[in-house]
Amino acid sequence: MPTEFDKAKENAPVHVAIIMDGNGRWAKERGKPRIYGHNEGAKRIREVLSAAKKVGVKFLTLYAFSSENWSRPPDEVAALMKLLVSSIEKYGRELVENRVKFTAIGEVSALPPECEKAVRDLEEKTREFSEGTLALALNYGSRAEAAKAARLLAQKAARGEIDPSAIDWDMFSSGLDTAGMPDPDLIIRTSGEQRLSNFLTLQAAYSELYFTDVYWPDFGEEEFFKAVSEFKRRERRYGKTADQL
Ligand code: IPE
Ligand code: IPE
Ligand code: MG
Repeated sequence: MPTEFDKAKENAPVHVAIIMDGNGRWAKERGKPRIYGHNEGAKRIREVLSAAKKVGVKFLTLYAFSSENWSRPPDEVAALMKLLVSSIEKYGRELVENRVKFTAIGEVSALPPECEKAVRDLEEKTREFSEGTLALALNYGSRAEAAKAARLLAQKAARGEIDPSAIDWDMFSSGLDTAGMPDPDLIIRTSGEQRLSNFLTLQAAYSELYFTDVYWPDFGEEEFFKAVSEFKRRERRYGKTADQL
């Protein structure tokens, strides 16, 4: 059972990002096809979003499809794209009712047209909301994101709009998909893998990392609270000594 410490809003992470991994293995253990695991996994998002709100998290970013996931079998990719559209249809209204802002990071324009449309429509409907932000990483990869940010700056420099010697992190990061969002305080990865898999690698410079063996379809409110309380026990030093804090 989560304690009061786990649930208290004090010192809660402002931005939590999650690598929702293990759907395939979860399904395999049950003798089901991988897509069954993805469908079950999608159902957890609602519960985790509500848990995040309870503990005072303002931004929740979920890794749903990486720029490398296109290399999966075509029927799995197609099923994931279908699941994206049906999930937006199913849960989009709830986000609107709860005044949660929905946003996507990644190359959304390279998704199938019906996916792009569903994403853009929900972004549009929730644009003005401020009761928390749900960001979905779709066709997202940090390296592609960084290359795009560099391209933007190079184009501006070529037009004479900026001085290349003035480029610093603030200017560079304003070209990232996460511009306007704080860096993640806590990154959670489920399923026992301990890597970032091209997810927010630049934004993760000072993120606390939390790994759990639990597969994503089994990750619920209690597991989320556990991760948050572990985060609260960590000491973030940003290069300083412990005495300076
Ligand atoms: C994560 O679960 C969901 C996506 C990457 C879309 P996986 O599909 O990677 O599940 P495993 O890692 O094969 O168990
Ligand atoms: C990362 O999981 C991407 C998502 C969770 C959407 P993967 O399952 O694709 O990562 P790797 O291939 O095991 O590193
Ligand atoms: Mg995986």
